[in-house]
Amino acid sequence: MIDTKGLFIVLEGPDGSGKSTMANKIGEYYKLKGKEIEFTREPGGTNISEKIRELILDNNNVEMDYRTEALLYAAARAQLVSQKIIPWLENGKVVISERFVYSSLVYQGLGRGLNIEDIKKINDFAICNIVPDLVLLFDIDPEKALNRKLRFNNGDRLENENISFHRRVYDGYKQIANYYPEIKIINAERSIEELFEEIKNIINSIN
Ligand code: TYD
Repeated sequence: MIDTKGLFIVLEGPDGSGKSTMANKIGEYYKLKGKEIEFTREPGGTNISEKIRELILDNNNVEMDYRTEALLYAAARAQLVSQKIIPWLENGKVVISERFVYSSLVYQGLGRGLNIEDIKKINDFAICNIVPDLVLLFDIDPEKALNRKLRFNNGDRLENENISFHRRVYDGYKQIANYYPEIKIINAERSIEELFEEIKNIINSIN
């Protein structure tokens, strides 16, 4: 772990679990405390990573091999970490990211059925050992969450996977939470206000 002055908060959970809404609220909260905030999302967040994102999520890329997919997520992440996240943290900023390596462990590892140790290895290489200060895992039934999201758009290549894929991802999140002490599971099947109250308590306990 590099030694930085900043704070790195990650939001994880099924597609449609409400991460974006909470990312904004957490950002506003830190702004009121006088902190400088940077938001990012994965895959994406830099020019190169956004181009990789288009490749990965394009519904036309039906032939994409699962290993290619895993490597592309890791490549997009490597660029984001070196170009943005590490400099932000070194400058003492609060960095709020929707998704990080945990998504690859569960979507590519448990969802796609690739070896989770391999996914961990390529991502350790990609992220230069940075570890978030806090990972909020949004616990919500994957079917409910996905339906909420697909009401507003047609879905990308990952969202259009069948529900058993999304269930494996959900179960995967619950499993990996046992191995990563930075992960805090939060019940996301509640009102925005209730959810944010709990999140405030958690973030106040880490700094
Ligand atoms: P996005 O539209 O950003 O979804 P969300 O708003 O739910 O984060 O699309 C990202 C998709 O990519 C999402 O289905 C999860 C998936 N994903 C992976 O499979 N592996 C990864 O490492 C990451 C970061 C995302």
